Amino acid sequence: MTRPVRSPLIPIRPELTPELLAWAQRAESVLDRELPPANQMPERLHQAMRYSVLGGGKRLRALLAYAAGRCFAAPPECADASAAALEIIHAYSLIHDDLPAMDNDDLRRGKPTCHIAFGEAMAILAGDALQALAFEVLTSDTQSRADAGTRIKMLRTLAQACGAHGMAGGQAFDLDAVGQRLSHSELERMHAYKTGALIRAAVLLGTLGAGRVDATELDRMGAVGARIGLAFQIRDDILDIEGDTEVIGKRQGADIARDKPTYPSIIGMEASRALAQSLRDETISLLAGHGTAAESLRDLAHYAVDRRS
Ligand code: IPE
Ligand code: IPE
Ligand code: MG
Ligand code: MG
Ligand code: MG
Repeated sequence: MTRPVRSPLIPIRPELTPELLAWAQRAESVLDRELPPANQMPERLHQAMRYSVLGGGKRLRALLAYAAGRCFAAPPECADASAAALEIIHAYSLIHDDLPAMDNDDLRRGKPTCHIAFGEAMAILAGDALQALAFEVLTSDTQSRADAGTRIKMLRTLAQACGAHGMAGGQAFDLDAVGQRLSHSELERMHAYKTGALIRAAVLLGTLGAGRVDATELDRMGAVGARIGLAFQIRDDILDIEGDTEVIGKRQGADIARDKPTYPSIIGMEASRALAQSLRDETISLLAGHGTAAESLRDLAHYAVDRRS
């Protein structure tokens, strides 16, 4: 068996297939290029942005964009801008999620959170600047096969996924839910908004960047993304209990310490596992018509549910 070559940019990822590993490395290079240089003014802001985006993270959202494009025979360059924009939005959401006013976490991706390393004010600004940068990157895309109308649709898809009816809305539900006993449907809505929406957008952006895709197919890919997104957050809740701080790169037990409603706390551990697996199985069925072109997307659906970090 040939071992993948270690990249200077990201640590080796034995759980990834060679295709996924190549895309992860590709995303890392695009991000490195798109982020402002650390030695350019305002240096501390740029350093905080680069600190939070580069050299860590599973790059799931980037991988989903590449894998979705692959389902429609698009080469990876079609998804480069989308992959970078998605990871930049995601990094912004993590910086703000970790702030004292939100989850008050001090460890992320195995290193001090942005506000611990750079101070709270700079962390807020790094998040703000990253959110703006994501849209700048997407508007500057020259490589996707999307026509002008489709590119507007891609921008709207990303905006909706991180706004009040997406990630930010989900984070608001999450904050209001502390100490509450949510119903299963309230919990599902919270997770679908705070995590599912951006992951669904990742699949949609990859699909839209591939060129002509009909509405039925786009809906199907949206359903794929929503299922992977929910399964991914269920696994995140499980790893908060079963994970190891060293491996997950963030403090194990943080949800329980903060009295957050999670899937294991509301429906139990075994039912959470079973639900994540059934979401994965539905995803695999939805992709049945794509044959080998969807292999990496199917791999990611498995990864969302089986991952250890
Ligand atoms: C963490 O996301 C926050 C959630 C939405 C669960 P990831 O687990 O994808 O974080 P990184 O990018 O790998 O650090
Ligand atoms: C975060 O959910 C979702 C975001 C929008 C960032 P969590 O608060 O569960 O994520 P972690 O566990 O801190 O990564
Ligand atoms: Mg949170
Ligand atoms: Mg958190
Ligand atoms: Mg969590």
